Amino acid sequence: MYKILSREDPVLNIHLFKIEAPAVARKAEAGQFVIIMVDEKGERIPLSIADWDREEGSITIVFNEVGKTTRKLAQLEAGDEIANFVGPLGLPAEIEKFGTVACVAMGYGVVTMVPIARALKEAGNRVISVIWAQSKNMLFGNERLGNFSDQLIVTTDDGSYGRKGSVLDALDELLRGSERIDHVIIIGPTCMMKFCSAITKPFEVETIVSLNPIMVDGTGMCGCCRVEVGGETKFACVDGPEFDGHQVDWDLLMSRRCTYPAEKGKALVYRCQNCAQW
Ligand SMILES: Cc1cc2nc3c(=O)[nH]c(=O)nc-3n(C[C@H](O)[C@H](O)[C@H](O)COP(=O)(O)OP(=O)(O)OC[C@H]3O[C@@H](n4cnc5c(N)ncnc54)[C@H](O)[C@@H]3O)c2cc1C
Ligand code: FES
Repeated sequence: MYKILSREDPVLNIHLFKIEAPAVARKAEAGQFVIIMVDEKGERIPLSIADWDREEGSITIVFNEVGKTTRKLAQLEAGDEIANFVGPLGLPAEIEKFGTVACVAMGYGVVTMVPIARALKEAGNRVISVIWAQSKNMLFGNERLGNFSDQLIVTTDDGSYGRKGSVLDALDELLRGSERIDHVIIIGPTCMMKFCSAITKPFEVETIVSLNPIMVDGTGMCGCCRVEVGGETKFACVDGPEFDGHQVDWDLLMSRRCTYPAEKGKALVYRCQNCAQW
């Protein structure tokens, strides 16, 4: 069993848990993920490693309550335990001295970008982070990411914090600006990564995306996470999750992501009807 050491709830439906998992913490690297099971009958879900403390033996995860398992997880408190916590999985992020790197993120991606930005800074890069939230009261992770960014550009839909507009506008403006951008890393929802990749393409900037297809085993055995990149079939769990955003078959990825909407809906309703707490 894996103990929850602490819990933070920065904004509605977003939670950060620090979990006691010394074996995972010993080997964790930026860009990797874990697969967790809340209880022994639970579904396996992948969550990125948002941070680690090797001395304490802990891993931080951040998650968005979207369905049955993430809601079940959100009901746990510090001191509670989760049944399974496997990792680190996936290839670490490719970190080298690129020059100036734009780290583009939204949602939980703002927090999971932190270890990547930190590693990029340690490798001697200039890091410009570009993040988006709907409004000021939905903004989180900006201070953590700001600690490892030379410049932090925040955009909100309503202009209640930072500049008004979308992350796409901010990225486009950055690429058109006077500073040369050598490398772009994007973490966020699939459609955001697709459109950001389309924006960087005419500028011929190397663009890396962290894909989040549906996964089951996370070890290359089931084929559930397969994606097409540059005309080749890849398994995001073992060949990724990072891939070249200009080579990903986005339409295929998006259609595969929507394979089980009815089942996901039913799972949520079933849990709602069978759990007195919600
Ligand atoms: C490598 C990887 C890393 C991830 N890291 C994080 C993370 O750090 N924090 C986080 O909140 N989520 C992360 N995800 C997404 C997370 O795994 C899903 O949100 C989770 O499996 C949903 O489970 P559920 O039972 O709560 O919801 P479900 O009932 O399975 O799904 C509810 C809704 O979420 C959508 N969904 C399902 N699976 C995914 C997915 N893989 N990615 C995005 N949306 C999905 C569904 O389309 C549906 O609309 C990651 C996914 C991958 C593959
Ligand atoms: S999740 Fe099964 S092969 Fe990747």
